Amino acid sequence: MSDNPRSSIHGQWSSRWVFVLAATGSAVGLGNIWKFPYIAGENGGGAFVLVYLLCIVVVGLPVMIAEIMLGRRGRQSPINTMKVLSREEGRSPLWQLLGWLGVLAGFLILSYYSVIAGWAINYVVEMASGTFSGTSAGQVQTVFDELLADPLKLTMWHTLFIIATMVVVARGVRGGLEKAVMFLMPALFVILIILLAYAMNNGAFMEGLAFLFTPDFSAITGKGVLIAMGHAFFTLSLGMGAIMIYGSYMRSQDSIARTAIMIVVADTMVALVAGMAIFPIVFANGLEPGAGPGLVFQTLPLAFGQMSGGLFFGTLFFILLCFAAWSSSISLIEPAVTWLVENRNIKRVTASIVCGVATWGLGMGTVLSFNLWAEVKLFDMTFFDLLDFLTANIMLPLGGLLIAIFAGWAMSHKSKENEMATRHVFAFNGWNFLLRYVTPLAVMVVFLQSTGLLAKMTG
Ligand code: PFF
Repeated sequence: MSDNPRSSIHGQWSSRWVFVLAATGSAVGLGNIWKFPYIAGENGGGAFVLVYLLCIVVVGLPVMIAEIMLGRRGRQSPINTMKVLSREEGRSPLWQLLGWLGVLAGFLILSYYSVIAGWAINYVVEMASGTFSGTSAGQVQTVFDELLADPLKLTMWHTLFIIATMVVVARGVRGGLEKAVMFLMPALFVILIILLAYAMNNGAFMEGLAFLFTPDFSAITGKGVLIAMGHAFFTLSLGMGAIMIYGSYMRSQDSIARTAIMIVVADTMVALVAGMAIFPIVFANGLEPGAGPGLVFQTLPLAFGQMSGGLFFGTLFFILLCFAAWSSSISLIEPAVTWLVENRNIKRVTASIVCGVATWGLGMGTVLSFNLWAEVKLFDMTFFDLLDFLTANIMLPLGGLLIAIFAGWAMSHKSKENEMATRHVFAFNGWNFLLRYVTPLAVMVVFLQSTGLLAKMTG
């Protein structure tokens, strides 16, 4: 048990399992089912997956443990947690900027995350109304293209999703979603297994597996490695304070390391199963693995459309995807809301409304980037591409790097030991070593090589 006397003004999880569920709910989301398959497809498959898995172990897990530890020690919004902890450790107050970086990242991510979650809501309706029964690949593609071309429809779903997110945040995390997630996450997993079984029997299963798990290093670029690392942060909700704020509601007596391992394993399993369900369908139907953000929306309806009971399972699948996105989105905005409550002395409800309106407005940029602004580009990226690249591949790894440096170097051994309260000295030292040397080095090397600087430096 840690010796930390602080408690959070925002509340505490009722048990260790509630924390595991909430953090897994945050980690498992669109990143696993929508993003992972399409970026793996765009970056050549196997080698990308290998780099991603390596990042999960070498960077993701140590940072996850560090983030929970910092959150629980500070027991406030990430900005204020960094403020107290840097003071306590006799370090520069500038460490607070880490909290600000996180709040900004969460806000930017939620703005587009909500638009994509809106696609999932739209697909619940399409599925349930039988649009995809006995459909062809071409028809599925048309439905997707028509959705993106319709700013009004996109805006409607985006608005609905932001409202749903803010309602939960306004009520406090314990208010309801906690219970829903407990049932929904396992259900999502079961449906993924059903899809996997379908892919095994009806898809080009071996081809799909080979694509995902045979590393062909000529297929991956420096940028691909950066995307794989960025995704390790994104999928585990790391580097922006989401896990930190959830950690701040964790009970003092619960084991941080064991909990973190569970979250990481669950998240990775969901992504891999999603990939194994999707690629066999891609290859069996002559679709393009590098089709981009539409990949799951163009493959799974095809499978559901042909499967018996597909109407039911398909509808259920997209409902669950919406819930997975929902339990992630609340953690994206929770750091900002808690900061407003702590520093501006306003109620949670008001803070939620303020954050919701701002995120909604920014999200309109993403809505338009798929249609009216599709040709408006900066560095060859649309507004959506730019936000996604900036947050997942730059801001989150940078935040994670700073977290590793703070927990690894700026914090005293004693504070860490007290907070971790572990009897496993060997494991503690292993974690500390990864955090001090391996994680920062890995992130910096990936940053440098993706800009081509590493090649120049090594001649
Ligand atoms: N981990 C979520 C997903 O994979 O969909 C996305 C996310 C949530 C990223 C919360 C960052 C975060 F703080």
